[in-house]
This record gives sequence, structure tokens and C-alpha cells, in this order.
Amino acid sequence: MQTPTQDRLDARRVVLTVDSGEITAVDHDPANAASVDHELPSSHVLIPGLIDLHIHAPQWPQLGTGYDLPLEQWLFEYTFPLEASFADVDHARAVWASMVPSLLAHGTTTAVYYSSIHVEATTALAEACIDHGQRAWIGRVAMDHPEGTPPTYRDPDSATAIARTRESIRQLQALDDPHSLVTPTITPRFIPACTDETLAAMGALAAETGLPVQTHCSEDDWEHGHVLDRYGETDTTALRRFGLLDTGAILAHCGHLTNDDLAVLATLPGGIAHCPLSNVYFGNAVFPAAQALAAGVRVGLGTDIAGGPSPSLLAQIPASVNSARMLEEGVDPARPSGERGRADARIDTLTAFWMATAGGASVLDAPLGLLEPGRRFDAVAIDLRDAAPTFDHLPAEPDLVRFERLARLATHADIRTVWVDGRRVYDHGEHS
Ligand code: GUN
Ligand code: FE
Repeated sequence: MQTPTQDRLDARRVVLTVDSGEITAVDHDPANAASVDHELPSSHVLIPGLIDLHIHAPQWPQLGTGYDLPLEQWLFEYTFPLEASFADVDHARAVWASMVPSLLAHGTTTAVYYSSIHVEATTALAEACIDHGQRAWIGRVAMDHPEGTPPTYRDPDSATAIARTRESIRQLQALDDPHSLVTPTITPRFIPACTDETLAAMGALAAETGLPVQTHCSEDDWEHGHVLDRYGETDTTALRRFGLLDTGAILAHCGHLTNDDLAVLATLPGGIAHCPLSNVYFGNAVFPAAQALAAGVRVGLGTDIAGGPSPSLLAQIPASVNSARMLEEGVDPARPSGERGRADARIDTLTAFWMATAGGASVLDAPLGLLEPGRRFDAVAIDLRDAAPTFDHLPAEPDLVRFERLARLATHADIRTVWVDGRRVYDHGEHS
């Protein structure tokens, strides 16, 4: 099952031909199924690999904890001290060895990672992705602002932020990566953590290398307000002025964009990593996904580990439907119903699933997210026996109903096999 567009389900039975990791043919004639190498059991559904556009890898040990503070305090009290511990590369390796296979088992075939500020830990993260076979966009985090960072966890100055970013990119590009899984990504953490000099240098580095950028954009009231106070403009226009939006920027959150920001983003490569569970705790508002999509902006989904409490991109699908519905309805019963919410904010499961797959691929401008010729074979086999059981005495459910059950009810426990670039990288070991 897949969603070629936001409003269309493709649930046909097909025979796929894969050559060197690329899908080269899709045959819709079941008669040709006789000669296949590998046939999925009838209860299994194949979907495109899930694309998680926003993960903080060094926050893996903190996942599911510490949601009692707003963003700024959360960063300074919990997160920055944890990330500082990744100066110890052995500690980093142990965390990556837990995290990467776990995320593959959750169906995350492509992960867009912020590492820590440490070059060695970042290279070790890329090595772990290559070893376990996960596709990954990876950035060593640049953060040098003396007010937006603690003394124990920052680049000491802009020159160091730039030199270490260059060195990290050099090390990632030098890795033996036969499947081209790793894309170095320029990662100024967010405007409050970076000096103007560093933001400008990261923009220049993007122009020089053509590499994509990732950062946080208009995440919550505090961060959005900081940028308005500092520059008298929004994150979007400031990031653009620093040259950070020209090579395909993956912008996390974006809950507080203006209509003008959306119009600007619609003209640029890259797009938005919508992290619906994280926004519950740190966004101060619901990201209006329907409005962003209607404005022509590319949008995919992210867990924001550990800002969101779940490692599962599947879990973000119903979460994004739920939060959009709450935005439309409003949440405060003390307000009259007509004034409670925002019109036309809801999205359906097709749109949410599209964001988790093809939408994410469009943000990355990568041949992923759909099982069609010319794209890489990154895929997940899900056993629908538990999430969408069939009963002999009831008529078979239409495809759209089975799809809705998949999108709302399937969990990582239903995932049976995961492939990246044509290689089987996870197997639940229960083919029946
Ligand atoms: N903004 C800057 N850093 C972070 C982070 O680690 N998590 C989230 N959610 N927002 C951030
Ligand atoms: Fe984040």
C-alpha cells in the first residue's frame, strides 16, 4: 500500500523487480507472480520505508522522560548535559548500537539525525548507520552562542564551530559507504544557539558544498519571540538571509509560521519536519499542516526524539491526524463552539501516511517514499492480522478501510521485515 499523492491510495498487488537497490519494474499482472523470488504472506502489506525527518540521536537515552519543562529549560536542564556526555565516543557508540537497530525495527528506513557537537561521535553515528544498513542524513551540531548554550556544551567560538563542521563533513564523506546511505547535513542547531557569524558561515558552507541544511524553525513562543526580538523578522526570513534555505533545508516544527513565511517556503527546496507529538510538549500550538500543504510547502513527519516521547514514525501518523483535528475543533470547552477552533485544519489518514513516506521524500528531494520504478527499494512489511483482522463470516474489507486500520492501529510489533536499498535489514523472524 502506498500514497502516490495526498489523496490517493494505491493498494494493488504487484510484483516488484529490484536491481542494485533500485526498483526497476512494477508488474501489476498477478499471473507473473509465479516466478518471484520472495512472496509476502497474504496477511502482509508492503509499504514504502518510513522517513523520520527529525531525530536528536544523543537524546535516545532520555526518550520518554522529562516532559515537565518548557523548551528552554528542558534544553538547559536535561538535554544539553546529556548531549555533552557524547564527548566520550565509547558511550556514543554504545547508544548508537542500541538506537539504530531499534529504529530500523520500527520501520524507520531513513533517519534525519542531529548528532551532538562532537566530531568523533558524529562519525561513529554514520558508521553505525552504514553497519546496520539505515539511510541517514547526519549533522554534527553547530552551537556557539554564549547566551543560547551552556559553557559546558558549546563550540567555544565561531571559528571552531566552522572548522569542526567542515572536519565532520570531511570524515563522513571519507567513509566506506557502498550503498551511499549517508548524506552529511549542515546543522546550525537553531538561531538562539548560534551567533550571526556562525549562521552566515553555515549558509556559505551550504552554498560551497551544495549540502542540505537542517535546523529548528519557529518552534515555540520563546524561540519564535527570541528571533523576532533579535532581528525584527521571523525565523524563515532570517534563515533565508543567512543563506540557509537554498540547498534544501529540513526545518523542524514550524508551528508559528506566518502566511508570508509559508509563501516563501513554497518557492524554495526542502520543507518542514512536522513533529506532532513533540509539539504537544514544546510547541505551544499545533502546526497547521493542512494550511502548509495547501500553500504548496513540502511537509513530512518527525519523531523529534526525545522532544516527542515515541521512537515510532508510525505513531506520528495518527498523532498528526489527531492534532489537526484538535486544531480544527479547538480544545477549550469554555469557549463557544464557533470560536473554539480553526476552519479547514483537519487532515485525513491518507495525507498523514503520505507525509510519513512520499512527503518526507519530497522534503529530502530523494528517490524514496514510493514503490515505483526509479526509486530505491526501501520498504516495510507489516502483518495486518492483529491491526486489521479478517473474519470468514464477514465480507472482505475494502482497501481503504484496511489502509485506515494500518495507518491508525499498526505498531512496530506488527512489522515483520524491513529493507533498505534492496537489503533486508530487519527481520522479525516469524514468517507464517
Ligand atoms: N531546539 C533546539 N534544540 C532542540 C532540541 O534538541 N529539541 C527540540 N525539540 N527543539 C530544539
Ligand atoms: Fe528538535
